[in-house]
Amino acid sequence: MAGLVNQAELNPALLPLEWLMGTWESDGPGEGCFPTIKPFRYTETLHFSHVGQPIINFMFNAFHAESKKPMHRECGFIRMQPGTNKVAFIIAQNSGLVEIEEGEVIGQQINLQTHALARISFAKKPHVQQILRAFQLRPDGKLEQTVSMATDNQPLTQHLHITYRPS
Ligand code: HEM
Repeated sequence: MAGLVNQAELNPALLPLEWLMGTWESDGPGEGCFPTIKPFRYTETLHFSHVGQPIINFMFNAFHAESKKPMHRECGFIRMQPGTNKVAFIIAQNSGLVEIEEGEVIGQQINLQTHALARISFAKKPHVQQILRAFQLRPDGKLEQTVSMATDNQPLTQHLHITYRPS
């Protein structure tokens, strides 16, 4: 549909994140773990787009590596504080969690940590209490994401690690 085709130029406020734009496909299965769960493998597609605003729109869709069934999904917005390297991710997750993560863009790396968290009243337990997330564009052109979390009963521990190639 013509109205949905984005012909806008990237807003200059987003130039520090230009390397993130577009679609990324997992390059082999990602690895999920946590002390309280069985290790698992997953695939994931990331979409980062814009409509000319100083805001990136994103969607992350994860699937079971073998059955291909849809699993975790997140979507939201990325904003940068003008004139600084400060970045905020505003995120809604299909588990009923909404969160704001803030951090810094340093070259082709983003380091984020929880700024605010809220969840639906009937969210599955244990509840996540803190999230650390990092994206890094490697010299070979692949993107890596690492997520650690703390829950009601576990200290900060890695939950996800995955590598993506441009799609
Ligand atoms: C389990 C949070 C992303 C797959 C969990 C648990 C939490 C959690 C709190 C329960 C841990 C426990 O029982 O002690 C999150 C958060 C995410 C995230 C905050 C993003 C920031 C993902 C992604 C996948 C995934 C991308 C990919 C498929 C799973 C699986 C389990 C699990 C398979 C174990 C089974 C289950 O409890 O559903 N996650 N998760 N998670 N997560 Fe994630």
